[in-house]
Amino acid sequence: MKIITVLGARPQFIKAALVSRELRKNHNEIIIHTGQHYNHELSDIFFDEMNIPQPDYNLGIGSDTHARQTGQMMAELEALFLKEKPDVVLVYGDTNSTLAAALAAVKLHIPVAHVEAGPRMNDKTIPEEVNRVVTDHISSMLFAPTPVCLDNLHREGLTQGVYLTGDVMLDCFLHFSKEAEKRTGILDNLSLEQGNYLLATVHRASNTDTEENLREICKAFIELAQEIELVFPVHPRTEKYLKQYGLYQELKDTPNIHLIKPVGYLEMLVLTKNAGKILTDSGGLQKEAYFAKVPCITLDIVSAWPETVEDGWNMVVGKENDRQKIQRENIIDAVRSFEPNKKQQNIFGNGKAAEKICDLICLLMTPSGTID
Ligand code: UD1
Ligand code: UDP
Repeated sequence: MKIITVLGARPQFIKAALVSRELRKNHNEIIIHTGQHYNHELSDIFFDEMNIPQPDYNLGIGSDTHARQTGQMMAELEALFLKEKPDVVLVYGDTNSTLAAALAAVKLHIPVAHVEAGPRMNDKTIPEEVNRVVTDHISSMLFAPTPVCLDNLHREGLTQGVYLTGDVMLDCFLHFSKEAEKRTGILDNLSLEQGNYLLATVHRASNTDTEENLREICKAFIELAQEIELVFPVHPRTEKYLKQYGLYQELKDTPNIHLIKPVGYLEMLVLTKNAGKILTDSGGLQKEAYFAKVPCITLDIVSAWPETVEDGWNMVVGKENDRQKIQRENIIDAVRSFEPNKKQQNIFGNGKAAEKICDLICLLMTPSGTID
């Protein structure tokens, strides 16, 4: 079988790492990188560290408005799909690269397989929500990481080709943990003590593009830094807005705040596992905090992973409001008081999602391929 995998942004490289390895045991995989992420620390570092095969094509699309970025990707992907004639196009998550690949493929009648199908935040102003809903509805194979995701898909009438697989990010978390132990130097370099620092990431459009929200987050970080060290690997989108709003230098000059460039997956695993608490608006990091049993404070008004909130390990601190959705005092209160005290449920599977997904694609693509 010939499978084209389309990737473009940081979390997709991570999600694809072990699925690609598994697929290549029996199939011909071609990787197309759209070029949505292009900085070394958002792209190449993951291919190197996680041993992901180099992309066969890099479209080099880069940053642009949503429509222009997605449209350019579609046009170039269509040409490559016509040239390569894949049996399946495999996509991950909910970025513009996911949507572009799924749309280009379905219009050529090529079956689309979607890994991480089914999360819902029920808000169409979130760009990722539009991407994931449309992608799910045009995919032939939908791989839901959790029972909640499976239910969401069923509720939307999607029942054919829908399977519960577990989460490929848990596979990666378990698989790369040993390798990550060699990278604990990052804790020494930043003079961090195990369990005695906060790890923060921010990059959601709702937090970066609305000045009031980013300002509240920064105020909270600066106040918290009086009590505890805080490591903040800054996404380039966030760096741009921090500078635009005049917040960057103040954060950089605050003692106990470590404003650093984005790090690779292995160092991020070290920072995650050893953090006292994690503050983030990243969907992926909310899950990893859960895997690592580190309390997570979500800087948003809703989590893409309500299972982690329901299970008591994730606290959503944003409040629906006209414009400003994040309040400084809610973040600070959560850091001071949130202490999960529950044993975790098994939400994200058994760490063998990549294998299951590859087996399912293979079975579903055989002529009589229906399974239940
Ligand atoms: C994208 C995804 C988001 C995902 C995130 C992972 C969409 C709509 N959003 O958001 O779902 O969580 O990736 O990190 O697909 N930039 C650089 N260098 C890069 C990439 C981006 O400087 O290598 C800067 C540019 O100023 C760009 C901005 O970041 O305009 C935003 O990049 P973009 O890819 O549009 O969205 P992300 O915020 O990265
Ligand atoms: N990540 C990383 N380095 C960083 C920040 C995040 O390797 O500096 C990893 C993180 O551990 C997780 C993934 O990137 O595996 C999450 O991606 P991101 O937050 O960019 O996107 P989202 O999950 O919100 O779509």
